[in-house]
Amino acid sequence: MYTSEKAPAKINLTLDALRKRPDGYHDLEMVMTTVDLADRIDLMDLPYSGITLESTSGLVPQDERNLAYLAAKLLQQKTGIDRGVNIKIYKHIPVAAGLAGGSSDAAATLRGCNRLWNLGLSLEELAEIGAEIGSDVPFCIYGDTAIAEGRGEILTPIISPPSCWVVLAKPTHGVSTGDVFGKLQVGEITTHPDTRAMIDALQTGSYENVISNLGNVLEPVTIGLYPEVYKIKQKMEQFGADGVLMSGSGPTVFGLVRKESRAKRIVNGLRGFCDQVFAVRMLGV
Ligand code: C5P
Repeated sequence: MYTSEKAPAKINLTLDALRKRPDGYHDLEMVMTTVDLADRIDLMDLPYSGITLESTSGLVPQDERNLAYLAAKLLQQKTGIDRGVNIKIYKHIPVAAGLAGGSSDAAATLRGCNRLWNLGLSLEELAEIGAEIGSDVPFCIYGDTAIAEGRGEILTPIISPPSCWVVLAKPTHGVSTGDVFGKLQVGEITTHPDTRAMIDALQTGSYENVISNLGNVLEPVTIGLYPEVYKIKQKMEQFGADGVLMSGSGPTVFGLVRKESRAKRIVNGLRGFCDQVFAVRMLGV
């Protein structure tokens, strides 16, 4: 048996950190949404418990360190199933970029193996297993748009943003989420995003209010490590993006625009300045 799953990227419309927890994680408040840039995960059933993995990208581990591999392994352990899977990842989402590419691959593997192995687990059960792999995996199980709290695993679905284009620009280097959170001092955050206002903006379908309420407390931390992120933000604004923000722990910067022609102009302006630049649609609208 064979199945293929789409693993879309996410962006953060807001990311706020409320406190550092005794377990070392941070309690967060985020609004996350899915964009139309996706990896493809092909899964082939194996009649024994082995797991094999290959990826079209040399930038991700091709073994048990890959989050998709961990996902299949954990699902085997949780369910006691005596079947395996051959995982092939067609990578399109930039790696270590703040777009949850690895988490989305893991979520797609959980969804796909659930079907392939006839496990009959609900999305809630898959999200619970996913939370053991990474904080963004539960969101990636459901996709669309959600408010994420706790470590990121407490999800409340919400209406998706009004239709628009998203320009994604990834600098050459990748970023370790752990390094960025490690440098965050919650007590020293000067500007917290207004999560409530972003939720209202989505509920009223106001593109302008989505733009004016974009905010990410990790942005200054990552800019401190990689000033290039700030330069990309400036360039995106100069080329005409309505709103610009770093996604997750970065370093990918996204810009929102309404018209495709404007998105293409920004992409052309940023080419040569960034490692990877894409114009994609916001999903779920
Ligand atoms: O959960 P995940 O493995 O994606 O997290 C990577 C790292 O990011 C964690 O080890 C932790 O340092 C940091 N993190 C955090 N608070 C969160 C999520 C992640 O401090 N809510």
